Amino acid sequence: MEKRKIVTNARGVDTQENAEDAKIEGSLRPRNLDSYIGQKKIKESLKIYIEAAKGRGESLDHLLFYGPPGLGKTTLASIIANEMGVNIKITSGPAIEKPGDMAAILNNLQEGDVLFVDEIHRLNRQVEEVLYPAMEDYCIDIMIGKGPTARSIRLDLPHFTLIGATTRAGMLSAPLRDRFGMIHRMEFYDIDELCAIIRQSAKVLNVDVDPNGAKEMARRSRGTPRLANRILKRVRDFAQVRYDGSITEEVANVALDLMDVDKLGLDHTDRNILLTMINKFGGGPVGLDTLAAAIGEDSGTIEDVYEPYLIKNGLINRTPRGRVVTDEAYHHLGLENPSDGDI
Ligand SMILES: Nc1ncnc2c1ncn2[C@@H]1O[C@H](COP(=O)(O)OP(=O)(O)O)[C@@H](O)[C@H]1O
Ligand SMILES: [Mg+2]
Repeated sequence: MEKRKIVTNARGVDTQENAEDAKIEGSLRPRNLDSYIGQKKIKESLKIYIEAAKGRGESLDHLLFYGPPGLGKTTLASIIANEMGVNIKITSGPAIEKPGDMAAILNNLQEGDVLFVDEIHRLNRQVEEVLYPAMEDYCIDIMIGKGPTARSIRLDLPHFTLIGATTRAGMLSAPLRDRFGMIHRMEFYDIDELCAIIRQSAKVLNVDVDPNGAKEMARRSRGTPRLANRILKRVRDFAQVRYDGSITEEVANVALDLMDVDKLGLDHTDRNILLTMINKFGGGPVGLDTLAAAIGEDSGTIEDVYEPYLIKNGLINRTPRGRVVTDEAYHHLGLENPSDGDI
């Protein structure tokens, strides 16, 4: 690989949504289940539930999607509303501060509507409590008046579907989690699925990508559609300026090397995590907070954004005593594992 690198602060492979994504994701977002690639198990069960609910003329059961950012949770929520032929109201945990705000949102829904709550693990307790009767019995209790004359009245709500999304299912309270009829874990996408997503997006963006070019971009997308799309856009620009506009394997390789994304899709932060574990902590075990402090990242970000892909690729293991790097990590970084050959 070439040594010359462009180092920027903006992470090329950050899976969290940025402003540029928001602008273009709208046009790349699939609108129905058939153009939603991958996540076969989830799609199959959704198809059945949607058909059954429609057949009975009922609203769909509440759903929870969890998994790392960029795997298609928001997209899937919109598709479900679309397939059900209902409206979707999109909000997020931190955006709803008071129980009254939640009550107002619920009260404004129409029969069958989808309420999508992103980052649902960040709802505060009082707001969450409004959701319990709403999800279970489609009603809310509202307090009227103050002091000794205060009384609560029960308000009926339309039959709605709550779709929650979270990067951390573990942080959801048990009473909330129990009220979801279906809980689905989003999986990382394989290379073929990412290739299909890249081809689909290339059509929309009107850029020519050959099969090997698509494969190279897919390989370096960390199993994440959001990244596949972002990489496609960056490589497209590169192809246009430096080449004739089409994306071949060579174009993809040169562009991705310049972006400092390696063959596994790891960027400098990922490699920094692995190298810090190796150089400062002898390969581990090291606790999450200690590691976070050493590399100057937020521990939650490491856990939600970086670690899942490193674990999935067998570069890090989680043990009861902390994180450890694996032989694969040494190998990937071109280092020798010092404990190899120990007797
Ligand atoms: N299964 C999929 N098929 C095709 N494109 C997808 C798929 N999942 C996600 N995408 C693309 O990736 C982008 C990010 O997905 P999004 O739903 O916002 O992820 P999340 O909400 O999980 O962070 C979307 O704009 C969409 O273009
Ligand atoms: Mg989202």
